[in-house]
Amino acid sequence: MPSLLDVKLKCVDCGVEYAADRPRYTCDCGGLLDVALDVGALRGRISTQLFDSRLGARDLPYSSGVWRFSELLFSVAAENLVSAPEGNTHLYESQRLSRWVGLDSFLLKHEGENPTGSFKDRGMTVGVTVARLLGARTVACASTGNTSASMAAYAARAGMRALVFVPEGKIAYGKLSQALAYGATTVQIEGDFDAAMALVREVAASSPIYLLNSLNPFRLEGQKTIMYEVLQQLRWSVPDWVVVPGGNLGNSSAFGKALHELHELGLIGRLPRLAIIQAEGANPLYRAYRNGFSSFAPVQAQTIATAIKIGNPVSYTKAKRAIEWTDGVVEQVTDAEIMDAKAQVDAAGVGCEPASAASVAGTRKLVRAGVILPGEVVVAVLTGHLLKDPDSTVDYHLGKLESVTPAYPNAPLRIKPTLEEVLRLI
Ligand code: F0G
Repeated sequence: MPSLLDVKLKCVDCGVEYAADRPRYTCDCGGLLDVALDVGALRGRISTQLFDSRLGARDLPYSSGVWRFSELLFSVAAENLVSAPEGNTHLYESQRLSRWVGLDSFLLKHEGENPTGSFKDRGMTVGVTVARLLGARTVACASTGNTSASMAAYAARAGMRALVFVPEGKIAYGKLSQALAYGATTVQIEGDFDAAMALVREVAASSPIYLLNSLNPFRLEGQKTIMYEVLQQLRWSVPDWVVVPGGNLGNSSAFGKALHELHELGLIGRLPRLAIIQAEGANPLYRAYRNGFSSFAPVQAQTIATAIKIGNPVSYTKAKRAIEWTDGVVEQVTDAEIMDAKAQVDAAGVGCEPASAASVAGTRKLVRAGVILPGEVVVAVLTGHLLKDPDSTVDYHLGKLESVTPAYPNAPLRIKPTLEEVLRLI
């Protein structure tokens, strides 16, 4: 198995390769970098049974739902891992939600069940482990909230300094509280996520801090494991569709790479189709998809789902590649559709934050449009935990959201503290 010293970073545009023994985020040509997997060396040497034999492991590396798939990442001695351990999240099936979206079989992969409450932990265990192997003392990111929460926690565990840049006043409170609580130096900038992202790229280019946004190809290696785990939970039978929200487009890019590699390795016989769902007010990928990817233009992002309020996603070219590899589609949904879908996910006893519900709203829209067929097996990824953004949940149920009239409100009831009043209610 290759260790970090053997890993090559390969440009997705021009194919130039770089050693991974020092920080590098993009190619000299400006293209994004992949961690290159040596498919030829692995073919025939790994099997789904190998990964299944590690289920239930008590110790690292295999107790982690990321490092269980080490061969498909790279090898690190267990004592060098920065791991919580993460992954091992549930795959829920809800009849109520299946009916609501119009499917016979609708599955929800709940990445909000990771240690800090979002899928970012899968990327961070790899990113922070690499940061430590490279000798970094400070790690940094721009974030709409979850990346900063996750990076702050993993940096704290590794004894590193965390520096986070967040858009002022625009991130959910649960996430801001995590960054502060885990001890990150938290910088609120006057500007949106895209401005914060541009700033942190400049900081990383002119100082020794290690950048841990999904521009960093190691982050995406960790996030590939969401697909591995879903397939493992399905006993390696391939679903027809995987549906995921798209913001900075790291996750969709990682899913494309994961599925493409598994197929090349012969571990799956076909690829599921990927559906990437964007908020209507933050939809640059959707616009590019609609024009046949002939051009890409950033937008000024606006949506209630602050996690995906991103107008200039850094992983655009990789997400486009993922759509091409998987014969995928891109859809957009309104804030009202997102919040109503969230209410349904929540009321099913599963729960998620607004951005996550975009995948459920998008599934329903694609079923109604006849793109997804009712008998197809669909896995939607819930990216973050319900408690990340309690304000949006409460405001929805109180009817206080500006742009959304709730279809499924459940406001608290106010009564006098008497038995008669209670009996009258029930
Ligand atoms: N869902 C949640 C809950 C997120 O936090 C994010 C991204 C996404 C979906 C979109 O994923 O960027 O890979 O397309 N949050 C980042 C952050 C941007 O800073 O926490 P993506």
